[in-house]
Amino acid sequence: MKISLHLLTSLTLTQLFITLIVFVHCVESTYYCSTAGGVDPCTLAETLYEPYARTGNCEYNGVYAPCDRYITPGWYKSDDLVLDNCPVLNSCGAVYPIWMNGTFPQVADGVVSRTLCKTGFGGCCVRQYDLQIKNCGTSYVYCLPALDSCPERLCFGTNGTCEYPTTVAITTTVAITTTAVVDSTVSLREYRNLKTRYVVAIVAVILLVISLSGFATLMSFCYIKKRRKDREISQSRVELATDETGVESNGSPPHLHFQPK
Ligand SMILES: *[C@@H]1O[C@H](CO)[C@@H](O)[C@H](O)[C@H]1NC(C)=O
Ligand SMILES: *[C@@H]1O[C@H](CO)[C@@H](O)[C@H](O)[C@H]1NC(C)=O
Repeated sequence: MKISLHLLTSLTLTQLFITLIVFVHCVESTYYCSTAGGVDPCTLAETLYEPYARTGNCEYNGVYAPCDRYITPGWYKSDDLVLDNCPVLNSCGAVYPIWMNGTFPQVADGVVSRTLCKTGFGGCCVRQYDLQIKNCGTSYVYCLPALDSCPERLCFGTNGTCEYPTTVAITTTVAITTTAVVDSTVSLREYRNLKTRYVVAIVAVILLVISLSGFATLMSFCYIKKRRKDREISQSRVELATDETGVESNGSPPHLHFQPK
């Protein structure tokens, strides 16, 4: 009994620990790439976030200052392939371009994981991100993360027009002349970014509380069992002592009323 209790406790502890580690590690990187419920990312994918000027030939444009920090993590589709070789600094419309260090999957492979690399002053892979990619037959879909800082951007394609759409140009011109608009644009983006992070944090806290309360219940259950067992032992000791001293068993001491059964 004692051994099985110990085993149970340590098993629960280990389980809790592993669950926590796996959870913390996985939740932010994969929850938005989830294909649970049999949803096909090929149909789920949205048009690429700010698709313009992402090709390897486009230099960073300080007026538009595009950046994938504000991307809503999730599945995206693109006619251009994600760049699978190291681009130079100041390309893909960014100062620090992001590329895929890996091979393109086959249709039969389904969703696969790949590594994204950031080109920096230190080399071709100064920072890594996770990428999920699926071959949908005629094109690929990508589960893209929000990047850490600006101006970092994912590369799609090698050669293209580096023009920005006029609608973006108008918005940006207004934003530059009116600081208030700049502020509200930034805060909206930050808000979206923050919202995602808060949802993750809240879910994490809720799950942590659930696991902890489950653990606490188990511990108190074990404690009660142990107390009962201790009482039984001391009870049998009292009985033993009573037998030895030859006291009448009818005259039970008051505490014997607590004896279970
Ligand atoms: C790309 O990945 C391969 C295999 O994991 C690794 O050997 C290589 O160093 C990586 N390239 C860069 C630039 O990090
Ligand atoms: C890239 O496109 C330009 C014109 O858009 C063309 O002149 C050039 O040859 C192309 N380069 C490559 C490598 O395809």
